[in-house]
Amino acid sequence: MEQRSGDAPAATEKAVALGQLRFLTCGSVDDGKSTLIGRLLYDSKLVFDDHLSALARDSRRYGTTGDDVDLALLLDGLEAEREQGITIDVAYRYFGTPFRSFVVADAPGHPQYTRNMATAASTSDLAVLLVDARKGLLDQTKRHTILCSMFGIRHVVLAINKIDLVGFQEAVFLRVASDYAEFASPFGFATLEPIPVSARFGDNVTRASNRMPWYCGPTLLEHLEHIDVESDAVEKSFRFPVQWINRPNSEFRGCSGTIASGRVIVGEDVVVQPSGHAARVARIVTADGDCREASAGEAVTLVLSEDLDVARGDLISACDAPAPIADQFAVHLLWMGEEPLLPGRSYSMRIGTRWTAASITSIKYKIDVGTLDHLAARQLTTNEIAVCNIVTQVPLPFDPYSENRATGAFILVDRFNHATVAAGMMDFSLRRADNIHREVLAVDKAARAMLMRQRPRLVWFTGLSGAGKSTIAKLVEQKLYARGHHTYMLDGDNIRHGLNRDLGFTEADRVENIRRVGEVGRLMVDAGLIVLCALISPFRQERQMVREMMREGEFVEVFVDAPLEVCVARDPKGLYAKARTGIIKNFTGLDSPYDRPLNPELHLDTTAGRPENLADRVVEYLFPG
Ligand code: ADX
Repeated sequence: MEQRSGDAPAATEKAVALGQLRFLTCGSVDDGKSTLIGRLLYDSKLVFDDHLSALARDSRRYGTTGDDVDLALLLDGLEAEREQGITIDVAYRYFGTPFRSFVVADAPGHPQYTRNMATAASTSDLAVLLVDARKGLLDQTKRHTILCSMFGIRHVVLAINKIDLVGFQEAVFLRVASDYAEFASPFGFATLEPIPVSARFGDNVTRASNRMPWYCGPTLLEHLEHIDVESDAVEKSFRFPVQWINRPNSEFRGCSGTIASGRVIVGEDVVVQPSGHAARVARIVTADGDCREASAGEAVTLVLSEDLDVARGDLISACDAPAPIADQFAVHLLWMGEEPLLPGRSYSMRIGTRWTAASITSIKYKIDVGTLDHLAARQLTTNEIAVCNIVTQVPLPFDPYSENRATGAFILVDRFNHATVAAGMMDFSLRRADNIHREVLAVDKAARAMLMRQRPRLVWFTGLSGAGKSTIAKLVEQKLYARGHHTYMLDGDNIRHGLNRDLGFTEADRVENIRRVGEVGRLMVDAGLIVLCALISPFRQERQMVREMMREGEFVEVFVDAPLEVCVARDPKGLYAKARTGIIKNFTGLDSPYDRPLNPELHLDTTAGRPENLADRVVEYLFPG
């Protein structure tokens, strides 16, 4: 300790150079995790006290280092969800020594807490993995290693604890260390430091042990103090997600946000993404006035030389190293939702400061976090991890997560209850997306519609089986035909004989059923037709998704409503009877849910009117007067 006090001025400089270290501890109470954290906090506080004032001064000046960026990115969303019922239980503790300040994230390690651990890992630069010297590597150690690697941790300390209980034997230490090195080698960690410790007695935690003369490496605290996690955000290409446009008066227009990575200097060329417009940085404004240069972690307002159309959610990047842009990606996904992930369902995605709609097009495989095995999957449940393909509604600038955690991480949010349902990491953009262009057609929707002398629409009949959807839709079609309109009817049962004959009635299949019919409906509307769709379409999310595929006013939702008892009594196809006896599973209204529309354009009560009259109401809605 004396020795360190002597180093204080140099130490402070070094602390500044290395910046704060965020690390995560993995292991269970049995492994001695709490004891180890307790010891680090307690012993380092003794070291720290002498220099508290110096450090406090420095951390005021340098406290917001680039590493805060990751926290803001993933945690913001997750923190917000805490109130909405998802518990992300990560304890962050702050401590420091004259050399460095630390943030230690501590999350429970059991499989059911995977999302907590992932959250902690995504904001950490280093992981301290605890193993019990007597037990060696456990499945849990492997699982934690996999999660750490996946969430971008590049530095690992293997704390081989309870070394006192194996008589401080070097052979035990070497065996555990080499087992682990072998297991971890495919992950390619930048550093891997095995340290024999006794958390209980303090050996090699903050002070070197004299009971293991064979060990010449650093103590845990020394290692944490000196490791250069080259995290850094600052070394990477300049990325600035625009949080808001600052326009106090007509004279001033700046883009405000926090620099996610890299640095920026006044006079430098930047590009606004995804629009691709280039500009020069005219001013960098901070809370303390203008500055010439700013780097990762700093909150600034950039004034650009050109008056460009920049909006919240845009990404300002270095002109010579812009982010790639794509709308289809391969991603790693950690599912956190209470309800399963359904491919084809539309979720809100937040990447950086941008929100867009996104859906999973396929789950390539689930990862067994115990064995790394790839498992086939059609849906994901809470805490499962998978590699998926995802498509976004608009092209997005991004970086692969392995290159930049700030611009490569995203979250998915349920569009109706706003719960965060997934944390994701961009792997790469799908090449196939690069090679598919949109052909601009010579004859467009408006021209076709004009020729047919009608306004194309998608009239969407939803309701329980037996409510009367097809009956009413057929009558509407006849009436429209009689009036000289060009129509087509897409009926659930019919489509399931052809286009969708591969689909059943699980939630995942129904989502896909609606997605496909929605796409076909959209094409037919584009062709100029008035399209009548009659499908149960039980989920609000998918009806909303189809609505959003269409232009304003083009989608007409008709809720064909009849109480379940009435539908059961009608039972036109005898299916309720079969469902009741268990011959058919997942029957809507019985053992599969139906979300009633909240704001349909038309609500038809089929117990209160004859089909003829109800069909007239639809025609009247489409052609008033
Ligand atoms: S949806 O839920 O995916 O929108 P869709 O409208 O295509 O359903 O098909 C529903 C029709 O399939 C029903 O009218 C009924 O004839 C038949 N069917 C067979 N099994 C089921 C089931 N388990 N649930 C609902 N409908 C079923």
